[in-house]
Amino acid sequence: MATIQWYPGHMAKAKKQVQEKLHLVDIVLEIVDARLPLASRNPILDQIIQQKPRLMILNKADLADPALNAAWINYFKQHGLPAISIDSQHNHNVQQIEKQAQVILADKIARQQARGIKNKPIRAICIGIPNVGKSTILNRLVKRNVAITGNHPGVTKKQQWLKAGKSLELLDTPGILWPKFEDPLVGKKLALTGAIKDSLYHADDVALYALAFFKQYFPERLQKRYRLTEADFELTDPDLLLKITADLGLKDDYERASERLILDCRKGKLGRYTLDQVTEAAAND
Ligand code: G4P
Repeated sequence: MATIQWYPGHMAKAKKQVQEKLHLVDIVLEIVDARLPLASRNPILDQIIQQKPRLMILNKADLADPALNAAWINYFKQHGLPAISIDSQHNHNVQQIEKQAQVILADKIARQQARGIKNKPIRAICIGIPNVGKSTILNRLVKRNVAITGNHPGVTKKQQWLKAGKSLELLDTPGILWPKFEDPLVGKKLALTGAIKDSLYHADDVALYALAFFKQYFPERLQKRYRLTEADFELTDPDLLLKITADLGLKDDYERASERLILDCRKGKLGRYTLDQVTEAAAND
């Protein structure tokens, strides 16, 4: 795995851009990938948003293990963070976002009503690392395709509010933060799910990680997909990768086989899975 540094300059710029937008909103929608609810979080977000109300959104729930979706929602709730899981690609549960935002801000809304302010829209911003589905969620909420301009340092643009429901308005530009992957394991998880560019890692490292994961949790899926025998599971992971490479007709081109395996994982060909284990996170609390 290549060592990728999270440049302090980038980090500072991204942080500043998000900070500038925060005072405009009532609530932050923190978007994570349900397959890696911890690894796809941005570590500095807590520090940036501090006490601002927040809704955690575990997106791509259709690709993640359903039991673990529920376990992670529970985990975040226990840590004081209201959370929901959605599948924005197929528009499942997306309408929960507005409902949950109303619940989280109920006191504030009640105070406004007591002061005679009625029907003031809730203003929100989506924040997350690249590729977690911020644009897809935004498009679903506003019910049309909006060109997302992204966060380009130095490009200033008038902020626009998009109507995203009866009582919800969304900032048209999501907040984009870098993932942090100094920990090689986090890097492999991000690479396997397509959160970081392919050029940033060695495919075989990621494929070996995937093999080890599926061997531990879902050996039957590996067996079925790549027609493995019981004896194949006695092989070391590199030898198993070579066996799969040969079986795929790729001779000894394990790089190509690795890419194939990674793509299979990304596209859900090995079923639904969650790489971050809630039990491990709970043990570290
Ligand atoms: P971003 O703005 O946070 O960078 O993410 P974006 O919405 O562009 O989504 C990244 C990819 O994830 C898109 O696939 C999108 O269709 C997919 N995606 C978003 N939400 C969901 C979801 O809930 N479930 C599933 N299964 N997929 C989702 P793409 O355009 O094909 O990109 P890629 O797969 O080639 O990276």
